[in-house]
Amino acid sequence: METTLKELLKIAEAKNIAFASFNAPNYESALAVVEAAEELQVPFILSHGPGHDKYTDITRVMDIYKSLTKHVKVPFCFHLDHTSDLDYIEKALKLGFTSVMYDGSHESYEENVKNTIKVVEMAKQYGASVEAELGTIASSSYGNSETLLVSSSEYTDSNQAKDFVERTGIDMLAIAIGTVHGVYTTKPILDLNRIKLIREVVDVPLVLHGGSGIENEDIQIAIDNGIRKINYYTYMTLAGGEAVQRFVNNHEKIFFHDISLIAIEGMKQDALRTMKMFTKRDI
Ligand code: 13P
Repeated sequence: METTLKELLKIAEAKNIAFASFNAPNYESALAVVEAAEELQVPFILSHGPGHDKYTDITRVMDIYKSLTKHVKVPFCFHLDHTSDLDYIEKALKLGFTSVMYDGSHESYEENVKNTIKVVEMAKQYGASVEAELGTIASSSYGNSETLLVSSSEYTDSNQAKDFVERTGIDMLAIAIGTVHGVYTTKPILDLNRIKLIREVVDVPLVLHGGSGIENEDIQIAIDNGIRKINYYTYMTLAGGEAVQRFVNNHEKIFFHDISLIAIEGMKQDALRTMKMFTKRDI
C-alpha cells in the first residue's frame, strides 16, 4: 500500500524503530528490497538519486518501482535522494516521488535555508514531503573512508538545526554525526549523543545517511536517540556483487540470467538483515 514518508515515519516514531530507505538503482535491487519487506512484513522506502541515473534513469526506475509494488500490502513510499537541482526535484515530483530530499549542505547556511523553502513550497503543490540536510556527510562510492573523516566541527549543530527546521518547514532532517556514504575501512566513531541533543529541540523525524556498515549496537543507540529513517545502499549492492563473484569463481560458463538471480538473492539477504536490525528484531 503506497503511503507518504510522513505516515511511515509516524509508525516508526510510535514503535521507536527506524525504516530503511534503500537506494535501488535497477530492477534487481528494487526486487530484493520488495521481496525482503514482504517476507518480514516491514514497511520500506525505495529511493533514487540523480547519481544513479547512469544505471537506470529516473523515469525508467519509477516504472520499475511502480510495477514491482503494484500488489504490495505493507506500507511503502518512493523517495528522491540527495539533489540540489530544483528542476530535477520537480521532475521527480511529476513522476510520483512523494518525498524529496533537497541537499544544500554544501551551500552557505542562508542559501540552504532559502533554497529549501523553495523546495518545500514546490513539494506542497504535489502533497509531497521534504527532507533537507545540515552538516557534512562525506561520500565515497567505493573508496576509503579514512580519507573522508569529517571533523566534528562539521557535524550538525543542534541550535542551527532548530532554527533551520523552524524557518524552512521541512518534514525530515538529515543530520551529520560522523557517518560516511560508502565503504568503511575503519570503524566509524559516531557522535550518537548529538542525535539526542538535536531531537530535544527539533520536532521532525531525524534521518541518518551512510547507514551501511554501522554496527548493530550503534544502530540501536541511534534509533533510541531519535533516528527514524536510515539510508542504506552500499553494503547491499556489495552483498549482491560478492554473491556473483563467488558464483563466477566456481563456474566456467556464465549465463547472465543466473547472475541476475544470484545478485537478487545476495541483496535480499542483506536487506532482510538490515530491516530486522532497524526494526529491532533478532538478526
Ligand atoms: P551507504 O553508502 O552507507 O549505504 O549510505 C547510503 C546513503 O546514505 C544514501 O543517501
